[in-house]
Amino acid sequence: MIPQLFIHDLLSRVDIVDAIDRHVPLKKAGANFIACCPFHSEKTPSFTVSQTKQFYHCFGCGAHGNAINFLIDYGGLSFVEAVSDLAANVGLQVPQESDKTSKEVNSNDVPQSYINEHSTHSSEISSQDLIAVMQTATQFYREKLKVSEKAIAYLKERGLSGKIAARFAIGYAPAGWQNLGEVFPDYKSESIRKLLVKAGLVITNDDSNQYDRFRDRIMFPILNQRGQIVGFGGRVLEQEEPKYLNSPETALFEKGRELYNLFSSRHAIREANCVVVVEGYMDVIMLSQHGIDYAVATLGTATTSLHIQKLLRQTDNIIFCFDGDNAGKKAAWRALENSLALISDGKYLSFLFLPEGDDPDSYIRNYGKESFEKKLKQSIPLTEFLFAEICSELNLQSLEGRAKLVNDVKPLLHQVKASALSLILLNRLVELSGINRNELEELLQIRPPGRKIRKLENLARRQLTTPYRRLIRALIYNPNYSVKLDRNLLVECSVSDEEANALKELIGFIDTHPHLIKKTKLTTSLLTFLQDSPYRSLLEKIESEILEWGDSIDLEVEFLGALEKLQQIHRNRRMTELRSKSLNKLTEEEKRELQRLAML
Ligand code: GTP
Ligand code: MN
Repeated sequence: MIPQLFIHDLLSRVDIVDAIDRHVPLKKAGANFIACCPFHSEKTPSFTVSQTKQFYHCFGCGAHGNAINFLIDYGGLSFVEAVSDLAANVGLQVPQESDKTSKEVNSNDVPQSYINEHSTHSSEISSQDLIAVMQTATQFYREKLKVSEKAIAYLKERGLSGKIAARFAIGYAPAGWQNLGEVFPDYKSESIRKLLVKAGLVITNDDSNQYDRFRDRIMFPILNQRGQIVGFGGRVLEQEEPKYLNSPETALFEKGRELYNLFSSRHAIREANCVVVVEGYMDVIMLSQHGIDYAVATLGTATTSLHIQKLLRQTDNIIFCFDGDNAGKKAAWRALENSLALISDGKYLSFLFLPEGDDPDSYIRNYGKESFEKKLKQSIPLTEFLFAEICSELNLQSLEGRAKLVNDVKPLLHQVKASALSLILLNRLVELSGINRNELEELLQIRPPGRKIRKLENLARRQLTTPYRRLIRALIYNPNYSVKLDRNLLVECSVSDEEANALKELIGFIDTHPHLIKKTKLTTSLLTFLQDSPYRSLLEKIESEILEWGDSIDLEVEFLGALEKLQQIHRNRRMTELRSKSLNKLTEEEKRELQRLAML
């Protein structure tokens, strides 16, 4: 629970240009700074950072946010971590609001477990401590690998080179119950043990005895997006169960968030303009040994939406490469389901199923890099996989089969937000079901995508900048102007107008947070506090329009101009209203009003 006022103070002390430049070198360009966007691949820079307004915006992919958002999205940090990181840079102490009911900013990004653990134990264990422990353990396991003939023989047998083992920091946890005692000299001390338990390296059993979680296993360190070791996967050497043991969920490690090798593969992913998602650690490692460095693996869990979001920030192309068996198909289907809502047009997801009996590890060893890359090129597009899977259980010759097809596709189609993708799905459904387009749309209760696209085009053509939009821009630039805005002007605007509603929301926020607005320095974007707003993406787009505004902009003129337009709209509306009543039904007062309005 971090108070809003603190976020405001923090952001007004941090310079976003510094914060981003540390990760992505920025170049000055006019009033702003630019770079090639770190969230999608591009050759000419469209990622723009405003120093005066302290936000970034990519005109290519729409990535948008402040310094905190940047650390979350680029660095993979949680909200609390990002705030702590920035605070540490400017020497601020993060306060904790003890009141549990008070509204906490951006709760979406904060795993609940993390907050709780943090607020109750923060004085005892920090994530820095945990990371240090993981680092020490990794070092220990690596030393142990060097002296274990058995473990070395196992890796050799699997065809792993020494170089690649070093690159992935592979280690060996020796057999025995208390080996970690060797590396942590204060092992007997209560606080160290607590730390090791929190890190997931030591287990306390029912009799309060403590012992090492990983014993006699090959150890694969798992890095987060900052390159810190947050967990381990451990594989047995012989045939035993469980084959793989992963770190438990800890304050550092959430399986649904992390992807094995994502940190180290970032550059390769950008270069290849695609990422291959595989199932196993060994798959990633063996692919890398054969020169395919753009592979990542889920950690024994299904592919989550968070995984996909993370990957789509790095590249437009995701290839899921799963085993050809039933389990692989199932895993692929889960990935598909979790992707549909996240795909925007221009993103391309596909699936590669290897021949039965092969996984990427064995395939690349047997057939080599070229053959694997050829396979990648032949991967099945998402839409094709979707219909293939659904149709495999149906008889499309029968009416019942076709009805079921429509029924099965319906919930999937409803998730899709990308217009081109939904159009493709719909067209294919028309083909397969034999139901004509109009009836199908009726049946699916969807707005025809065709009309949606046309509407967007019209909007673009009209190039309309409504007074609402202009007022939003002005208020985002300087919220203090809100005092000059007559609230009555907003009362009657139609509920369907998104811009008007966004403006209302913005003003509502300004009205209820005078202490934030009164701060003289206005270097914190208002949007910082509206992350959960339904109008967020619209507001972000509008905020990006002020990127070119420098100190020379005459905000007064802009604001008053927009206000005048709004008053005009208001007047016209009132006049239409009055005129629609027949003259003899108007009161004297209304008649006078109409006369006055007509004069203006
Ligand atoms: P190798 O036998 O080492 O080649 O492993 P693999 O990667 O081919 O194994 P498999 O396809 O069986 O598993 C794929 C991934 O699922 C592994 O990398 C693990 O992350 C996970 N996994 C496999 N077996 C287990 C298990 O017994 N427990 C858990 N928690 N995860 C497992
Ligand atoms: Mn394998």
